[in-house]
Formats: sequence, C-alpha cells, structure tokens
Amino acid sequence: RTSFDLVIVANRLPVDRVTGPDGRVELRRSPGGLVTAMESVMRGREGAWVGWAGEAGEASDPFVEDDMYLVPVPLSADEVADYYEGYSNASLWPIYHDVIVQPVFKRRWRSAYEKVNRRFAEAAADCAARGATVWVHDYQLQLAPHILRELRPDLRIGWFNHIPFPPVELFMQLPRREELLRGLLGADFLGFQRRTDAENFRSACRRLLGATVKGEIVTTEDGRAVRAAAVPISIDADGLQQLARSEPVQERAREIRHELGDPDLVLLGVDRLDYTKGIRHRLKAFGELLSEGTLTAPGDVLIQVATPSRERLEAYQTLRGQVERTVGQINGDYAPIGTPAVSYLHRSFPREEMAALFVAADVMLVTPLRDGMNLVAKEYVTCHGDDGALVLSEFTGAAVELQGAYRCNPHDIDALKTTIMEAARSPLDERRRRMRSMRRQVASHDVARWAQDFLDDLAAAPDKPERR
Ligand code: G6P
Repeated sequence: RTSFDLVIVANRLPVDRVTGPDGRVELRRSPGGLVTAMESVMRGREGAWVGWAGEAGEASDPFVEDDMYLVPVPLSADEVADYYEGYSNASLWPIYHDVIVQPVFKRRWRSAYEKVNRRFAEAAADCAARGATVWVHDYQLQLAPHILRELRPDLRIGWFNHIPFPPVELFMQLPRREELLRGLLGADFLGFQRRTDAENFRSACRRLLGATVKGEIVTTEDGRAVRAAAVPISIDADGLQQLARSEPVQERAREIRHELGDPDLVLLGVDRLDYTKGIRHRLKAFGELLSEGTLTAPGDVLIQVATPSRERLEAYQTLRGQVERTVGQINGDYAPIGTPAVSYLHRSFPREEMAALFVAADVMLVTPLRDGMNLVAKEYVTCHGDDGALVLSEFTGAAVELQGAYRCNPHDIDALKTTIMEAARSPLDERRRRMRSMRRQVASHDVARWAQDFLDDLAAAPDKPERR
C-alpha cells in the first residue's frame, strides 16, 4: 500500500540506519521521548511514518519494520549541519528551553530549514489518501503544516509539540518569527504539553501577527479557526509495568544492586546528555552531600545514565566534558577502591535493562532546568514498587501531573540537596501514598489515551474541511 489514512511526520523515523566501516547497514532504535511514545501509538494502527533515518546521504525506498510502513526522507550532509544541527538544535532548541545556552542564528540554517520542511511536507502529501489525517511532530517541522495545506487542502492536519513553547519575550528573538507562527497555523489543531505552552503560542499569535484569540481558538489572517490546547504525552504504562514485574527484570534489578556492592541507597538519573536536563546541578548536589558527610560511599551511590546525543554540537561536547570531569572528581574524592560513588554510563540500554534500573533505584532524580514533559519520570513511577521516591523539577511538564513527587528547583542547590534527603529518608507509608497516586495518574493517562485524545481533538477541530 502506498496511500494511507493516517500519516505521521517526524524528523526521525523510529529506527536509525547505521552504516558500519565495512559498509554493512544496521537498523538501531532512535533516541528520545518522541519515538518512545509514537512507536506504541503506531502499533495496532495502519499508518505511514515519514521521517529521516539518521544518516546523511540518499534515502532508501520505503520499507516495513515492526509492522510500520516507514518512508525515509533524505538529508544531505549540509542539510544535517544546517537544518538539523544548526537551525533545529542550535537556534530553536535553546530558545524553546529558556535560553539555558545562547542560541545561534544563521541565515543559511534558516533557508535549509524551510527547504527540508518542504521536502517532509511533499513526502507526506505523496502517501496520504484523500481526506487523510496527517500528524506532524515537533519543533523541527513548524513550517510543514502550512506547506502541506497548500499542497493538499483536503487533509486534516495536526501538529504536536514535544518540547516547551517559549514565552513570547524569548520567542521574539527568532529572526523571521512570524513565518514560524504562520507555518504552524496551517494545521487544524495544535497540541502542546502544558496549558502554559499553548498560552504562550496563542500570545505570540496575538502579539506578533495581530491575530484574534478567543479562548483556545486563534483566527488566522485568512479567517480559519485553529485550536491550540494542551494534550500532555505519556507512556505505555501497561506494557512497561508488565515488563518491570517480570521475573527476569526483577532478578536483574537485584543483580544490579549486588554489583553496586549492596548499597543502602541507590539514586538514579536517566537522561539524554543534554544541557536542559540539569545533570550538572544534580552532580553538584550529590557531590556536596558526600563532602558534608550527609551521604557516604559506598553505602550511598548514584547511577547516572547519559545517553549520547547531538554529539557534533559544541554545546553538547562542552557539557560532556563538564559532566565527565565532575564524575571523575566525585569518584576521585569520595569513592573507596573498587566501587564508584557515581556509576556513569554514557550509552543507551535496551528496555529490559532500563526497567531493571528503575526497579533497582530507591530515589529517582529528574531535575531538568526545562523539559517539555520528561517521560523518564512516568517510567520510574510505573516500574518501581510502592517504596520508591521521585524527585522532580518544577520546570518539567511532568510536574503538572505528578503531584506525588518531591518537587524541586534544580537551580537552588541547597534546596535540591534538602529535597533529595527528604525523599531518601521519607517514611514508607508516605512513599507508598505518593507512589500509588502517581502510578494511578500515569496508568489512567497512558499513551494510548493521549493519542486518542489528540486525534479526537483534531477530528473535532473547528475549521471543517467542507468549508475549504
Ligand atoms: C527530544 C525531541 C525529539 C528528538 C529527541 C532526540 O525528545 O523532542 O524530537 O527526536 O529529543 O533528539 P535527536 O536530536 O537525537 O532526534
């Protein structure tokens, strides 16, 4: 089949093509929360997924993987540098995450972004059936909805933002910012992680385009009504809980604690190695707790999984250097022979191993400086039993939903230390109450419900295709 009623368009396909030095091609699972969520949505639905396979050069023909019809979009080496590393991840990513690092703007990057957005839109138009639903994803593809509408006015077009949408004062810094808003307004429905993100978008439309905004509806310059609302993303809670409760995973969790020297307290951090995740702040807090003697190695340990990410970008290389130096310092200063105080793992792991880590950890540290949602927080409460504790930054989308977490401001190192200790020393009945409430919240708002809510909102969007 080459024509589908549902088409997903995202920068990445769920698998990356990796060509080895011997020319052999291997498919590897792509990193990040978007793929984690959408993979489980696509299972059981007949649809196509349009995206980049993670390598520069010519794209292969469409192929079927895991029952998904995948349509690769090619990016040249220059386009990877300009559209993906440049505009998407050195201009937009910092602006959309509270300028934690300084954004860089280059006109060449912006031209490449537009060209590549057109290519994605054309690929989607080519495989969408008449009247089909096309669901575009994330900040890399903000011009695609408008281009797609011009190519195919018969389509129902939705867009979901996996990351925050910035306050207008930050958004305004972007050159040619109005075109991004018009690009998005090509959709019928726009979904965001938090209400604040949707509000930020609508304010930007009002302030920068002079658009009329009533409640959640933005009226475009050509008189169409576009709804922008919050639809917080989630995880496959059932599937993950089953995996976590399985005997091999439970056994592996016991083994992990044993390999760590049977410590009293296992703290865990799991992140892409990204400056938005607050890894440095977390290490600083842990290091100070050891230096004061509040915690001691090897009885108290931190496991930090840092999945390699965007490794050619300078900001990511700098962060890696800082993190690895700090880990080295902490271990050098406080770890006894043979057991590190910080087990630092710069690689990715299969689902089973991740589930075992979540089961093994007494306290999960999710301390981003800014994060759209953070699915790791939801994964931990789903995998771990009643006796866990979640330390969660106020600057994540997850903090809106997970009321049972120990909330923190990661910028405030003293407060972060106090919160970590409060979580670590909390009585069992309190932990139980908190963990149960969070597990229930995630179970009743899982990824299947998120996808259905989004598609229902899109189908019910105010501007009916008949009018076109
Ligand atoms: C975040 C973004 C995704 C992105 C992922 C991994 O979750 O929202 O769009 O795919 O990070 O980043 P990468 O640049 O490797 O695709």
